[in-house]
Amino acid sequence: MTKPDVMLLASQRPNAMAQLEANFTLHRWDLAEDKAAILAEHGATCTAIATHGHAPVDRAMVAAMPNLKLVSCSSAGFDTFDVTALAERGVALTNTSSALCDDVADTAIMLLLGARRGLVPGDAYVRSGSWGREGMFPLQRSLKGRTLGIVGMGTIGQAIAHRGAAMGQTVRYWNRRPKDLPWAFEPDLITLARDSDNLVVIVAGGEGTRNLIDASVMDALGPDGLLINVARGSVIDEPAMIAALSEGRLGAAALDVFENEPNPDPRLTALPNVTLYPHHASGTVETRDAMAQLLVDNLGAFFAGQPLLSPVDLSAYAVRPNAT
Ligand code: DGY
Repeated sequence: MTKPDVMLLASQRPNAMAQLEANFTLHRWDLAEDKAAILAEHGATCTAIATHGHAPVDRAMVAAMPNLKLVSCSSAGFDTFDVTALAERGVALTNTSSALCDDVADTAIMLLLGARRGLVPGDAYVRSGSWGREGMFPLQRSLKGRTLGIVGMGTIGQAIAHRGAAMGQTVRYWNRRPKDLPWAFEPDLITLARDSDNLVVIVAGGEGTRNLIDASVMDALGPDGLLINVARGSVIDEPAMIAALSEGRLGAAALDVFENEPNPDPRLTALPNVTLYPHHASGTVETRDAMAQLLVDNLGAFFAGQPLLSPVDLSAYAVRPNAT
């Protein structure tokens, strides 16, 4: 039986690669020196793309693949994709939020605890001998009884909420729409920030959420507030955050993601009141394997004519002709 043609934009974990090679004729855009040439030669025969969220799928690529029906993405985030171009052509998109949900939620809690309990400076305090010379490390802040605000109540936001509640925190959230959940919905982001001690951001990236967390939200969170970002750097107005942290209008930030990766703004990384992690919330062997497997399984379902396992709803991105 002829194997279907798939355009591979980004290599995957070894086990997934073995399955992709066994089941599909892979066109290795990721390895091709002449990327335009591989698209020109094989774009028309590929009905699917396999990729991750850091390899852009732009309008030109969609146009070069007239029979494209599916983009199977091994990341949760797809903010580098031209989703309008996909939606206009009726191309389906799958992602992997369900596979990385627990590790990203764990990382949010790790950043929360790390920042509130001074893990990084505490580690340095022991290593440097300061403990012996200077005595007790300064007292830190407890989490129990504090309010955890969550911006974005999708799969991962809910996993963070469960963890936060289990630690004795009061959970409140902001989302585009309220959900039937045991935590209080707050429709106004500034009110949520004002009422939160710790605010975690976990909305999708992209133009729709660019600078959602602006200076007014950070001022509302205030000089004792902690801002945690496990979403995308673009969601926070980073220059405004640097100013707020420098001027003491925002207490602290704990960040897994940055506007400029992998070289974040040095004015940000020089600040003492930030805890930093290298965009690695899903970076475990188990989760990266599960994400790659979900990419493979979505391709398998598509070519078997079965329902996709983790489709993204692109209906909001379609530009309808003559829409008023
Ligand atoms: C994702 O899957 O979107 C994570 O941020 C890793 O890129």
